[in-house]
Amino acid sequence: MSNETFDLKGMKILIVDDTPHNIDVLRKTLEPEQYEIAIALSGEAALKVAPKFLPDLVLLDIRMPGIDGYETCRKLKENESTGKAPVIFISANNDTKDILKGFRVGGVDYITKPFQAEEVMARVRIHLQLQLLIKEHEAARAKMKQTAMELLTKNNRLQEAMQQLKSAQKKLVQSEKLAGIGRLAEGMCHEILNPLNVIFGITQAMEMERSEDEDILKDLASITEEIKRIETITNKLIDFSAKGEIQLESVNINDVIQKVMENLKNEGQLDKVEVNQDLAPDLPNSLLDSGLMEQVFINLASNAKHAMDDYGTLTVSTEFLAKENNAKSADCSISPIPNDGGLLRVKFSDTGKGIPKEHMGKIFDPFFSTDPDMTGLGLSVSYSVVEKHGGTITADSNGEKGATFIIDLPVVHRNSGA
Ligand SMILES: Nc1ncnc2c1ncn2[C@@H]1O[C@H](COP(=O)(O)OP(=O)(O)O)[C@@H](O)[C@H]1O
Ligand SMILES: [Mg+2]
Repeated sequence: MSNETFDLKGMKILIVDDTPHNIDVLRKTLEPEQYEIAIALSGEAALKVAPKFLPDLVLLDIRMPGIDGYETCRKLKENESTGKAPVIFISANNDTKDILKGFRVGGVDYITKPFQAEEVMARVRIHLQLQLLIKEHEAARAKMKQTAMELLTKNNRLQEAMQQLKSAQKKLVQSEKLAGIGRLAEGMCHEILNPLNVIFGITQAMEMERSEDEDILKDLASITEEIKRIETITNKLIDFSAKGEIQLESVNINDVIQKVMENLKNEGQLDKVEVNQDLAPDLPNSLLDSGLMEQVFINLASNAKHAMDDYGTLTVSTEFLAKENNAKSADCSISPIPNDGGLLRVKFSDTGKGIPKEHMGKIFDPFFSTDPDMTGLGLSVSYSVVEKHGGTITADSNGEKGATFIIDLPVVHRNSGA
């Protein structure tokens, strides 16, 4: 490679020799190349000058008073700022042993005195070129590494954003679905309830009139039962479509949960279920519609009971997540309700049969049920109630080890503008 491809002008050379004459000769030799040159008259001086001058190459005499060239070289190599500069030894000594020692302590080349100007120039040139190439290579590598890091960070950020978008989209789709069903349901329910009341009245009248006919009474009882069923579904649909009419009051969610669990136990709805309550003692109050939240907890508890064939355990826990722990979930929430006060997390965890993977995407859909005798409205109603509070409800189930429902509600105080 010709040196025309390299611009070596201005590269820095440190000449170390205790004989000023030698330094003069070397300096003159190198003058035409327009290097930047510094000199040191001893090893000690070289070690002082080098970290400031930061040479690209060192020409180093071996025999000097004080520390000799070998020691100087070793010390230069130990220092991080000077260690990379190639060292060329210059010595009158051409003993192979001494030359080898020069290489051992870190030298890259060895020129014997008396030297030919051409030789010195050529060797200096070649090592400077090498040095230049190494520097370029290192810079390119550092740049590549930085670019790779930047790409990685960008990629991570992109993935995070996509994840947030996906979950926001999912919530939107779910809300849309619920809103559509809600509008339809609202109209339908009133149309159904009126005739249903008439039928109910007639049935009761017939029961009284035909109180001696057992067969008829049995049929009328089934009719009444079915009427009740229709009424339950209809009322649930009405609850579900009650848009925005939530009655907020400052309550402690632990109290709501305790009340619900107590009632369910007294009504015998949790027979054969061992209930564990792990309620955080330091939970802040929050603005909630306790009636609606009761409905959510009833739904979750009865689903859990339903999922447990025989005996099982239902663990209900609450937890307060301070703002810094949920910055992310707050960011991607599509709720307009601020949650500067952190989150309340409620978990219903059961040991029932669990939710198969293929059902996970559907359980919050209105009318989705795996039980033909059920309405399939419990979770969709719960979803819309939680959503009205600016919260989220998610399900988690790993196969047959039961299911866990997690509700996150923003802590809202009366003055937080909700
Ligand atoms: N704790 C649970 N364990 C297992 N499956 C559940 C649980 N909760 C809900 N599911 C599933 O989600 C479906 C929908 O629940 P839900 O909306 O309450 O309707 P329903 O209880 O009327 O079937 C249930 O039919 C059931 O398949
Ligand atoms: Mg249910």
